[in-house]
Amino acid sequence: MLKKPVRPVISISLGNENTCIALDKDKNALVEMSAFSLNKDKKMLVGSCAENEPIFPIRDGHICDFEIASEYLKQFITKSCGKVGTYFSNIAVMIPDSFSRFQREIIYEAAKHITLGNVRIFDNIIATASGAGLEIDRPYGNMIVDIGATKTTAAVVSMLGTAALGYTKSGAYAFDEAIEKYIFMKYSLKTGKNEAERLKKSFLDLSDESEYAVYVKGKSLESLLPEGIDIISSELKGAVQEPVENIIMTIRQVLSSTPPELAGDVLESGITLAGGGALIKGIDSKIEESTGVKTRICENPIACCAKGGLNLLTICDKNIYMLEKGSAFGL
Ligand SMILES: Nc1ncnc2c1ncn2[C@@H]1O[C@H](COP(=O)(O)OP(=O)(O)OP(=O)(O)O)[C@@H](O)[C@H]1O
Ligand SMILES: [Mg+2]
Repeated sequence: MLKKPVRPVISISLGNENTCIALDKDKNALVEMSAFSLNKDKKMLVGSCAENEPIFPIRDGHICDFEIASEYLKQFITKSCGKVGTYFSNIAVMIPDSFSRFQREIIYEAAKHITLGNVRIFDNIIATASGAGLEIDRPYGNMIVDIGATKTTAAVVSMLGTAALGYTKSGAYAFDEAIEKYIFMKYSLKTGKNEAERLKKSFLDLSDESEYAVYVKGKSLESLLPEGIDIISSELKGAVQEPVENIIMTIRQVLSSTPPELAGDVLESGITLAGGGALIKGIDSKIEESTGVKTRICENPIACCAKGGLNLLTICDKNIYMLEKGSAFGL
């Protein structure tokens, strides 16, 4: 007997900073900057933004425009699996939970427009939990904290829904901003976002007590000329105190609003960190220290949401009734 051909599956997570596409659970997901630019013919160029100022469709709200949303998805998907792959695939799209019903529908229609396959829209945090290796479809409480670029979402996930949920605008960008502001105020040196991000990635370590000199480049406000200065590494820790505290406070609030029957599970299974901000050195031990709950960083924290979308599609096929219950699923 001839087997019915299985449609390829594409899972795509839309983040303010990164868009990730996963095609296969066991292979690396493609990670691209969530930005496009327009070339001379006003054609959208996704990923590479060398020619013009990048436009961030999610951050800047352009994703509300159907034409932009469908072109954006099409270009991303074509980049990872070719035009033909796009037409026939089943597509899962993970969107930030902050999206309104209208924005969800735009994304759904945009994805429908480019494929003959099925389209499913999932909430980021549920997909992230699944991609981080948590069993989200059991009556058991698991805590996931997604430290993205523009926000941190903390949730206790159980039975494909969120039993407790909280947000703060302090995501990984807030660390860049705090570093930039500190150096500006203390040394009258304007660093710019890229330099602040470099310092965050290379020298910020929340659990390191040692002190060493860190070279910082920028533009002096006094001479108005390019200048380099040395600061002490521990100054960076002091500079980011506010976003660290905001993240910890959000996690504590979510823990305190967790139903008692799931609180014990969380104590047992611990807190799992995902999102690019999970890579901030020492953030796991800081969270563990202040909550008393063991904390780990998941594998592939940036791409795990897209990987989780592949898992959700499988879970959906097995649990149609859960789909109808639906807190995890947008449409
Ligand atoms: N090694 C690292 N150390 C510290 N921060 C990092 C590291 N790698 C990435 N980041 C930060 O992670 C952030 C991007 O994370 P992520 O891809 O999860 O965001 P996003 O999902 O696009 O954003 P959002 O969730 O707000 O929509 C950036 O601010 C980046 O600087
Ligand atoms: Mg994200």
